[in-house]
Amino acid sequence: MPLAPEFAPGTVWLVGAGPGDPDLLTRKAMRLIEAADIVFHDALIGPGVLGLIPAGTERVSVGKRSGRHSKDQGTINDLLLTAARDGRRVLRLKGGDPSIFGRSGEEIDHLTTCGILVHVCPGITAASAAAASSAASLTLRGVARSLTFVTAHTRAGEAIDLDWSALAAPQATLAVYMGRAAAGTIAAGLIGAGRDPATPVLIVVNASLPDERTVRGQLTALAFLVETISDDDPTLLLIGEAVSTSARNRTQHIKQSVAETISASIASMNW
Ligand SMILES: C[S@@+](CC[C@H](N)C(=O)[O-])C[C@H]1O[C@@H](n2cnc3c(N)ncnc32)[C@H](O)[C@@H]1O
Repeated sequence: MPLAPEFAPGTVWLVGAGPGDPDLLTRKAMRLIEAADIVFHDALIGPGVLGLIPAGTERVSVGKRSGRHSKDQGTINDLLLTAARDGRRVLRLKGGDPSIFGRSGEEIDHLTTCGILVHVCPGITAASAAAASSAASLTLRGVARSLTFVTAHTRAGEAIDLDWSALAAPQATLAVYMGRAAAGTIAAGLIGAGRDPATPVLIVVNASLPDERTVRGQLTALAFLVETISDDDPTLLLIGEAVSTSARNRTQHIKQSVAETISASIASMNW
């Protein structure tokens, strides 16, 4: 029986590699990696995950990294197409989840338009790994009712064009991808649109990896907080009340008082 019966020759799987820790790959991703004939991977895929690709499998770095695209998207699309047309099992390995700021839509459109069957295997996105690193919750009952994935990355030379008033809603958590360089603009935009300058921020660098680093502070100091982070290190900004250390304690406290009230009522009942 083949390792991945769903991986037919001449088809392409877009596979989420997760945030970096190989243990955060799904079992399905692992099975597909073992069955692939050729793997095209991004620059952000680290040695831990790359080490799981069997030695005999062809491996091609398509090296996309913010600001430094070693191959443009058109070239990547064509490489995938050629490999699939050659009848190979083609695996496109992308950091995190392929559907989140991963340009998977462009690859899927190109391949399917050319008659190639494409499948997607989801992965753990960086925001989930970043929250997990501090046991933070991205949503929190009574505190954060929505979660927005946002990127501050723009095409070279373009200004950031985000709807600050929508993003500044108080009961919202923002997970900002590729936001390090624009940290000052993000803070100014949110505060200018009414977000509390004291809103907690949690910055996670290299989430899930051995050199993971977290920095905590307030929105007003965001530009300062990212100053020591290098351009090369993947960085996730989490902004919102839910990611503060005290937020969870507060809901814990509410739960505790509810539980105490219930126990007191039960105790006072005359059975
Ligand atoms: C092109 S986006 C790809 C996002 C990916 N598809 C996902 O779902 O996580 C790359 C950005 O994701 C974030 N990122 C990816 N991996 C990360 C990690 N291990 N730690 C922190 N941020 C990460 C960084 O903001 C990085 O610049």
